[in-house]
Amino acid sequence: MPTLKNELSASLPQLSKAVFSQPTDAAEYEKVTIRPIRLGGELSFQAESIRDKKAFHLNLDEKALLRFADETLDGRYRQVLLIRSDGSAQYVLRRDGSYRKSGKSSVPRPGGESAASHDREKHYLLAEGEYIPALVDLGVFTPELQIVKSKYDKYRQINRFVELIDDAFSGVEPGKLTVLDFGCGKSYLTFILYYYFAVKRGFDVDMIGYDLKEDAVERCNAIARKYGYDKLRFLVADVTKDRLWDKEIDLLVTLHACDTATDYALDFAVRHNANYIFSVPCCQHEINQTIRKGGDLDILLKHGIIKERLSALLTDAIRADVLEDMGYAVDLIEFIDFAHSPKNLMIRAVRRRSAREKNLPRCRELAERYGFTQTLLSLTDTE
Ligand SMILES: C[S@@+](CC[C@H](N)C(=O)[O-])C[C@H]1O[C@@H](n2cnc3c(N)ncnc32)[C@H](O)[C@@H]1O
Repeated sequence: MPTLKNELSASLPQLSKAVFSQPTDAAEYEKVTIRPIRLGGELSFQAESIRDKKAFHLNLDEKALLRFADETLDGRYRQVLLIRSDGSAQYVLRRDGSYRKSGKSSVPRPGGESAASHDREKHYLLAEGEYIPALVDLGVFTPELQIVKSKYDKYRQINRFVELIDDAFSGVEPGKLTVLDFGCGKSYLTFILYYYFAVKRGFDVDMIGYDLKEDAVERCNAIARKYGYDKLRFLVADVTKDRLWDKEIDLLVTLHACDTATDYALDFAVRHNANYIFSVPCCQHEINQTIRKGGDLDILLKHGIIKERLSALLTDAIRADVLEDMGYAVDLIEFIDFAHSPKNLMIRAVRRRSAREKNLPRCRELAERYGFTQTLLSLTDTE
């Protein structure tokens, strides 16, 4: 097993960033980030060490950096991330003080395949073995940080969700961010997103998960408190009618929020000027229950199973059209492959321009002709 010092030393020529996080009691700082800098034309390194919300900076040449790593960092942080121009690797502290390379690493092995793709690098965002303690409390990871077998599908889903979020936010400089999760349930996704933004990326994130279920909300608040996630909270609310957050938001997410709860979430996002919306709908019953024959689509309404699928697709197509008219660039993407979950479509929307009325008349005309109601479309009529 190579030592951390050797791994760091070997990485220095291509190092983009090294992050030492999840401090043990022996650590002097909460987090240390090392970046290469040029000083007088020479390659040096800057170590930024965070303690009590204050940042301390040290400029070090290679030798001094390795000494600093040896004396101040090695064995004192549970998680180490080395990001190099040709890939990345992550290490998790073992009980005996040594490090284990964790999960999927994209640093090419000597003599092995060349630099891994950006996609592979993203996978290890939530690698098995990564120290995300809330996932143990939530029952997704075992205490040894292995994925619990029965939670594997859920883990895949949240992992994919975070990858898609990372696609949108990887180029965004960490700053203040308000994120809401509608219908958060057991909140696997909410905790992971908080971890991604606050711990992994260093955003000053304010996050709220809303759900109808009091017991789930109480449990999630207890877990957030346990890990000192003081800007992550959960509130009991019916998102279709209760009073919620009243300021602007940056990002709204939903993962399988039932039926029209998704529509209220999308409407809320638009009215609160969210820049980003990531929504995976489910149980799109509304159109199925109200649609009747009325024109060329009648052949698709004859058989229950086709009518149900058509209604679900029509629901999400209308949602996308409404969001487009509200000023968003929208795409519908396969969230997870169909074999894993039939609830596999994601509405991804990024605010791009001001609102216009282009799609809405066509959607309203369709709703009128086929007699169906679609909540997001109806909500566009309310002030
Ligand atoms: C299928 S679960 C998904 C939970 C979570 N997002 C996940 O993917 O693990 C749907 C959740 O939405 C919540 N929900 C449904 N309608 C709601 C409403 N009107 N207001 C708030 N929460 C709602 C339910 O209580 C439930 O926890």
